[in-house]
Amino acid sequence: MEKIDISSNIKGIHLSSCIMNASGALCSSEKELLNLMNSSSGALITKSCTYYPRIGNEKPRYFEWSIGSINSMGLPNLGIDFYIDFFEKKDINKPIFLSISGFSMEENISILKKSNRSSKITAIELNLSCPNNNIEILGYNLKKVVQFLTYVFHISKKPIGVKLPPYFTDRHIKNMSSILNQFPISFVTCVNSVPNGMYIDIEKESVIIRPNQGFGGIGGKMIKPFALSNISKFYSYLKKNISIIGCGGISSGKDIFEHILCGANAVQIGTKFINEGITVFDRLRKELIEFLEKKNYKSINDFKGKLKTIDK
Ligand code: SIN
Repeated sequence: MEKIDISSNIKGIHLSSCIMNASGALCSSEKELLNLMNSSSGALITKSCTYYPRIGNEKPRYFEWSIGSINSMGLPNLGIDFYIDFFEKKDINKPIFLSISGFSMEENISILKKSNRSSKITAIELNLSCPNNNIEILGYNLKKVVQFLTYVFHISKKPIGVKLPPYFTDRHIKNMSSILNQFPISFVTCVNSVPNGMYIDIEKESVIIRPNQGFGGIGGKMIKPFALSNISKFYSYLKKNISIIGCGGISSGKDIFEHILCGANAVQIGTKFINEGITVFDRLRKELIEFLEKKNYKSINDFKGKLKTIDK
């Protein structure tokens, strides 16, 4: 049987498999990062880091049910120095993406300056979409995005991508794309969790998570339609040299197929990784390859971005 190629390329960064973890999912501590390094994921991304370590919000701050998850983690992470030191001492066999989410421009700039000095960090994912930091979701303020990216591209020596919140109108995605098209962005990740969701425990007649009066970002199966629409629209509006990483609602090889059909080069797994653990990467890889075999595709490039519409 001919080999099916599920490798990918994010603007020159080679991924042996197009499947990786999503930032935030089991990628904060030394143990979690080691686990990911030894897994079959095609790349590794860290928890969004801040300059100093943070313990994050009070628990319970994460909950999962059959079709979704809700979180208000509050960016718990070990701080930029930890992530730089951790990778510096390791033999690395896959691309390392550092996710950053400083609370101010100055904080982000300081983090970027530190990451410039690490030869082990392949690329940066700027988190423009944390739903829980009580300031604002930067990705919804297009003027600030322009300011922010202008600074970032003066400072950073690494390839840069942005993790975006979900957008709900065509115009919003078109406007955001024309901004991103003005910068030498390597990739966009669509989408972070859907902000301001709520889950209710009907026995207790209460919200299910403690922070922020129970409001949080929604992930998991139920957000897949929004991830797919955002990928598809960004794919049509962004310059073709900007790669898209799909994120949202993936729990099977067929879900990965759908993300790639809409235009994703690679995919990130969040809720399902937290739920199933590290073996999720082997399972999804196997399911994707089996599905492509049935479809008679030899590589992800055979169908990437080839979603059809229904003509009259
Ligand atoms: C959090 O740590 O609160 C979530 C971060 C994110 O979804 O961007």
